[in-house]
Amino acid sequence: MKASLKACDVVIFGGGGDLAMRKLLPALYHLEMDGLLAPTTRIIGASRREMSAEDYQDKVRVALDEFVPASVGDDKVWSQFKARLSYVSVDAQKESDFARLNDEQIGGDDRDVVFYLATSPSLFGSICSSLASHGLNKDRMRVVLEKPLGRDLDSSRAINDEVMENFTEQQVFRIDHYLGKETVQNLLAIRFGNTLFEPLWDSAHIDNVQITVSETVGVEGRWGYYDDAGAMRDMVQNHIVQLLCLVAMEPPGRMDADSVRDEKIKVLKALRPIEGANAYTKTVRGQYARGVIKGKEVPGYFDEEGSNPASRTETFVALRADIDNWRWAGVPFYLRTGKRLGQRYSEIVIQYKTVPHSIFSDESNRQLQRNQLVIRLQPEEKISLTVMNKVPGASEGMNLQPVDLNLSLTEAFHNKRSPEAYERLLLDVMRNDATLFMRYDEVEAAWKWVDGIMSAWNQTSERPKEYAAGSWGPAASMALPIKDGRNWHDY
Ligand code: BG6
Repeated sequence: MKASLKACDVVIFGGGGDLAMRKLLPALYHLEMDGLLAPTTRIIGASRREMSAEDYQDKVRVALDEFVPASVGDDKVWSQFKARLSYVSVDAQKESDFARLNDEQIGGDDRDVVFYLATSPSLFGSICSSLASHGLNKDRMRVVLEKPLGRDLDSSRAINDEVMENFTEQQVFRIDHYLGKETVQNLLAIRFGNTLFEPLWDSAHIDNVQITVSETVGVEGRWGYYDDAGAMRDMVQNHIVQLLCLVAMEPPGRMDADSVRDEKIKVLKALRPIEGANAYTKTVRGQYARGVIKGKEVPGYFDEEGSNPASRTETFVALRADIDNWRWAGVPFYLRTGKRLGQRYSEIVIQYKTVPHSIFSDESNRQLQRNQLVIRLQPEEKISLTVMNKVPGASEGMNLQPVDLNLSLTEAFHNKRSPEAYERLLLDVMRNDATLFMRYDEVEAAWKWVDGIMSAWNQTSERPKEYAAGSWGPAASMALPIKDGRNWHDY
């Protein structure tokens, strides 16, 4: 879809920071290459540091060379992009500095404005109030909030309340970059663009659902930051819970922001609390120890720079979630994520029930396996459906074997580049479409559920279980579905 875009000023607070350089500016550059930025759209970096526009352009160029493969860029695109780039020095805590945004004529009558807050959430409130006091919160102006949106329900509410003193819910875009991933959107296409799956999408046909986000990286030099969060806050509360919502929600009436979010919130409210002793039977926490990943020795959590051996922060979590509604009664949702695991991959697996009655001989019965729909988000984007087949050959009798029907998105759309999540999301903010962003009530409901689990963890002296880097997490996490007579889907 080529959107004809209205001119927009995109102001990035934290414009010189890591997120801006690694993700946001490369994404905007890709939009430039694809002709998706209006001719007079401007991109303005904002941060405390004094810097000229030329210095900022040079800094961005260096980042693009590193993060946008050279083969796709060319001089013409760069000179167009460079002409859009400017810089304003603003101390987010100094209200008077915001007058400089007015000096730059930000938000002229012909344009919308996107203020992207790629800063610490502790600054969100003061940035929003300074913007408002300079008249920069008009209806056509929006703010984008990066995670972490708090570290529990109370702190998340406090951030939200401060922001909403000056911006309305319609103007606030809470980003979860997982929702911008192509395959995640494809999940919606699969569910609601086909008649094939939806009639079988319930507890009568589905045995269990598994969501795995497995990472090989460790804390990437940010031990202190990570240790304050842990896998539950960093990955489960947002990315994984959002994936769960898209799998479990009822079909929305329309693909628009409130219709989709109204359905997601119903799932969040139906999540069964995991509290007290349940936290021990239904969740497993882990911390990585030294190990080997792809033949390379890697340090343990406590060997990382800045670490504190007293930490009980989890770098791995696996849990069984249950959704108490008619559609999902009795269907476990097994969720897991961790750092320094054996492979980097993310997938959603739908395991169907076994056939209700088998007509085959004992031997063939033993081979009967559940149908499985596997939606692989990364590293490669593909969808496969496992179905039972007869092994060819007269002498094989009715020997059955599972065979994958594969849909490789890379092959099916070989002339299409798969965009990075931030490209799609930035484009959506510019065109004022909040469908793939989180509403405040979703964020709060997710925190409420996560807070229950974390407070149960905090009431014990038990430490997270150690696992070797390069493994699949603590042994107890493998046992989690086994206790219910099931297995994790193998990578
Ligand atoms: C971020 C987390 O939100 O998502 C990181 O803070 C994590 O810890 C990252 O590594 C994973 O994102 P992706 O897109 O690489 O799977």
